[in-house]
Amino acid sequence: MSNGSGFAAKLARPNILELQPYRCARDDYSEGILLDANENAWGPPIDAQEILERYPDPYQIPLKEKMAAFRGEGVKPENIFVGVGSDEAIDLLFRIFCVPGKDKVITTPPTYGMYKVCAKVNDVEIVNVPLTPDFDIVVPDIIAALTPNVKMIFLCSPGNPTAKSLPLEDIEAVAQQAPNVLVIVDEAYVDFSQSSAICLLSKYPNVCVLQTLSKAFGMAAIRCGFCFGAPDVIQLLNNVKAPYNINQLTSKMALQALEEDSLKKLQSNIQGVLVERAVVAAALEQLEFVVKVYHSDANFLLFRVQQSAKAVYQYMADHCGVVSRYRGTELHCDECIRVTIGTPEDNKAFLDALQKAYQIVTQQQ
Ligand SMILES: Cc1ncc(COP(=O)(O)O)c(C=O)c1O
Repeated sequence: MSNGSGFAAKLARPNILELQPYRCARDDYSEGILLDANENAWGPPIDAQEILERYPDPYQIPLKEKMAAFRGEGVKPENIFVGVGSDEAIDLLFRIFCVPGKDKVITTPPTYGMYKVCAKVNDVEIVNVPLTPDFDIVVPDIIAALTPNVKMIFLCSPGNPTAKSLPLEDIEAVAQQAPNVLVIVDEAYVDFSQSSAICLLSKYPNVCVLQTLSKAFGMAAIRCGFCFGAPDVIQLLNNVKAPYNINQLTSKMALQALEEDSLKKLQSNIQGVLVERAVVAAALEQLEFVVKVYHSDANFLLFRVQQSAKAVYQYMADHCGVVSRYRGTELHCDECIRVTIGTPEDNKAFLDALQKAYQIVTQQQ
């Protein structure tokens, strides 16, 4: 399988470059009496609105076209991989670019936990280049950590759990100064923020951007994520993925979500979350036991309490039915809790629970 002499061909594992991708029955014929894929023309044993007996489209071109139009910046379908959430793309990138037991990736803790999990699964070493206590990347430190075996750099913007967008100049500086490494910008929360690195794709073949329908689109259940990148990188993702990774129901709903009316509703939902984010942040700032509320470019807030964050988080979950996330074990996040912005009722319940939990937990100590 030839992948030209581009960036991907220089970085990918030789076995991946040689790979002859699986050929689906539908690659040869897609019309007629289809008796070529061992499906069951008698149909499913349930009353379904959808055609369920046929394998779904392995290429998802209409979805890619709609997503390309939505994101703009000259993005074309050949710049887009569609995955079972962005988590699928993360795992495939490890499998494509990192030789197990030999290659390494750079991450910038505190950051999203799946990079570490995928690294472990694929027997790839993580090189940690910490964020500053203000949650910025340190470009010279990232560049200093490069070795010939570092194949990928994961930058999360807006970050999880930091909630902070990285300045585009910093991301570009990394892409520019690490031209032989794949720089992956995880933008799961991008629709709540102001800036995206998609504009860097036309300039830097070593940049990939991950996005998802799980967050602002509110469609975590359908598992649909995207990797945007240079066509040769995207081609490798398509070669390696399971042939029918995106199921028919997911595809249909994702297409629906990108219709004009849905996009209007998306914007109003985002505005609603942003208004509530400001309300919750202001309420947290008023609490004397809250030491810091971090700036947020996402749909969650990270905040620090004076003491006992873990016990407070646990009390809220066990006794108030309000589940947040204790993040105190993450770098620079001691005594920190991360809370997702919910509906106004959810948020009020959270603020009440937090005050009650803090009072009871600290009285007991
Ligand atoms: C930073 C980040 N990236 C990726 C994901 C995974 O997204 P998906 O649902 O598309 O797999 C998450 C989910 O929490 C996330 O926080």
